[in-house]
Amino acid sequence: MVESAIQAGAKPVYGVLAEFDDVDSIAKAAREVRDAGYERFDVYSPFPIHGIEREMGLRPTKLPWIVLVCGLSGTSLALFFQWWSNAVDYPFKISGKPLFGIPANIPVTFEFTVLLSAFAAFFGMLVLNKLPELHRPVFESQRFRRATDDRYFLAIEANDPLFDAKRTSELLQKLTRNPVELCHDSGQSGALPSWLRAGFVGVAALALLPLAATVWARAFDTTRPPIHIVRDMDSQQRFRAQVANPVFADGRAMRPDPLGTVAWGELGASGAAQAGKRGDTFVDAFPLPVTSNLLERGRERFAVYCTPCHGQSGYGDGLVALRASELQEQNWVQPSSLHDPLVRTRPVGQIYDTIVNGVRTMPAYGRQVSSDDAWAITAYVKALQRSQNASVDDVPLPERAKLGVQ
Ligand code: HEC
Repeated sequence: MVESAIQAGAKPVYGVLAEFDDVDSIAKAAREVRDAGYERFDVYSPFPIHGIEREMGLRPTKLPWIVLVCGLSGTSLALFFQWWSNAVDYPFKISGKPLFGIPANIPVTFEFTVLLSAFAAFFGMLVLNKLPELHRPVFESQRFRRATDDRYFLAIEANDPLFDAKRTSELLQKLTRNPVELCHDSGQSGALPSWLRAGFVGVAALALLPLAATVWARAFDTTRPPIHIVRDMDSQQRFRAQVANPVFADGRAMRPDPLGTVAWGELGASGAAQAGKRGDTFVDAFPLPVTSNLLERGRERFAVYCTPCHGQSGYGDGLVALRASELQEQNWVQPSSLHDPLVRTRPVGQIYDTIVNGVRTMPAYGRQVSSDDAWAITAYVKALQRSQNASVDDVPLPERAKLGVQ
């Protein structure tokens, strides 16, 4: 049968195909064919056969090395890019943290390592196996269809140096009781059809369009407004200032502010920002009664707003100040000690003014601290100053005796 096929076949011979009934016989056949010295042959089975690569004498795949190299490239690329963008190209100090630290950069590095490894495994497998391959001459055999069902096949290819249609067929025939057949190469190509390849190239080119558009937009200036595809609420139907609106009795679209409205940033106009002064001089008396409740409130607000810089007892040694000097921040101005002789002589109006409007490099707290609270803090600052500079005269007479002083 084989011989007649050789004579009849005008088409070139692809190889010899043998059919097997079970895993054991195909594994044994693979071993025999390998031992006979053949190298260009393949085994086809409906499912992966464990250990068949050993029987066939296949070299281990290079894929793990490719994956390792790509994964390590992912690790170093991700680390390098984060370091370059955060510490070199656009250094931006946040909360005194270092510009670059490994722990903060682990998530991106991990993800990128996994991504490149997965790409390498997926595409590397396709390339090493020369996939996709849509056609092989063995497909032309009718019996070969059962290779996806319940049969096992072994094909020795004609380009093997040892191949000889007659001897090779005899070798295979000895190994199986099923018929051995000669396969011809009808010249049909296993490559993807050209329309499909053109389609892939087209899609890839389309995918580059947004990138090209972005590069174009960055490279050239234009006076035209940007194309706005998703409008959201950026531009909507509304009445603009200075136009007529029939809904209101006075026909104006612009509505007058409700009585007593204070514009953001103009709170000072109400008097709070000026409350520490009379004319141009700072007042030296509290405009409200100084009670223990007020001092208590002042102590609490001082702890919230002032201690970070000035410290619990007002010596200018708050945590922020300590941290700044530890980092040797260059533009940092040491918070004043509230017990500085100069600060101690400040009239209460000036301390109030410092809180509400800030002073030199100290920011203003008028936005966060109400006028009453600013007076409460002022009273507490006064008490704090007194506490660090008390004299015997501050002790009530009956108490002095207990201290043993006059
Ligand atoms: C962000 C840090 C910071 C905070 C918070 C802060 N200060 Fe200051 N304060 C400073 C610095 C810095 C100076 C010295 C400013 C300078 O000399 O440029 C200063 C100076 C002062 C002075 C002396 C002003 C003068 O007359 O020379 C007083 C009084 C004062 N602060 C009170 C307060 C009070 C009360 C609070 C809480 C409401 C407060 N500060 C919150 C940083 C701060």
